Amino acid sequence: MKTIESLGEWRQLSNQVEGRVGFVPTMGALHSGHTSLIKECKRENAFTVVSIFVNPTQFDDPDDFSEYPKVLAEDIGLCEELEVDVLLLPTKDELYADNYRYKLLETDFSRDLCGAHRKDHFSGVLTIVMKLLNLVKPDAAYFGEKDYQQYSLIKDMCLAFFMDIEIISCPTVRENDGLAKSSRNRKLDRRGRKIAGEINRLIGSVMSDREIEKELEHLGFDVDYVRSIGGRRFVAARIVCGGSEVRLIDNMIVPGNVSSL
Ligand code: PAJ
Repeated sequence: MKTIESLGEWRQLSNQVEGRVGFVPTMGALHSGHTSLIKECKRENAFTVVSIFVNPTQFDDPDDFSEYPKVLAEDIGLCEELEVDVLLLPTKDELYADNYRYKLLETDFSRDLCGAHRKDHFSGVLTIVMKLLNLVKPDAAYFGEKDYQQYSLIKDMCLAFFMDIEIISCPTVRENDGLAKSSRNRKLDRRGRKIAGEINRLIGSVMSDREIEKELEHLGFDVDYVRSIGGRRFVAARIVCGGSEVRLIDNMIVPGNVSSL
């Protein structure tokens, strides 16, 4: 595996890459959700590029950004084990040489669900993903269904801008109790971890969105939303653990006959 920080070095190497290129962008603190994307990418492509970059422009809360888990040595070891071909570790200075003067704006779905609660979040996501896709120039890029809204916005962005890249979604990887794997789960304390499993159990139940919201509040969550849209139920809820707040999201295809009212 080659670990590359400089974009100049990547550009030189990328000219020599042959065969189908697959790309998995991440923010690190890698877990088996990320691993599943990397394995799928390796299966479908001759050359696999993974990036780790904790993207400041997608965080609406500076504390959330500074507290985002960073375990680079572990991440590098895992990527080596998985036989990733190139691990890109670009710097903020190079990626945002324009000081974020230019940004992507989507004016519809990005304002709903997480976008309604995290100001400018999806502009940050779409801008960094556009930059990374332009740099890596992959044939295919892999995204998790855990962040379904993100996946959907990225897929539509690539269509809207005629980008010749396959955007592929991979199923959500979960803990035994159903909790979606997330880098943020590391911040859960014992009590938080115990009730976090309830999120998935509840959204997979036949209860209505309203009933689930009430149930989550009863358990101690601050609920941003529980909404069923297009046959899929989305949830975001926050819980205080050890003095700081942990925000968890999940979604799944809703069981039949569930009303969103
Ligand atoms: P990050 O949260 O590190 O996630 C990287 C990729 O892993 C995303 O596509 C996400 O959906 C996927 N992923 C995370 N948890 C998963 C799980 N439990 N099962 C399956 N896939 C999972 O998402 C981002 O980073 C950033 O927004 C990024 C796209 C890298 C842009 O900065």
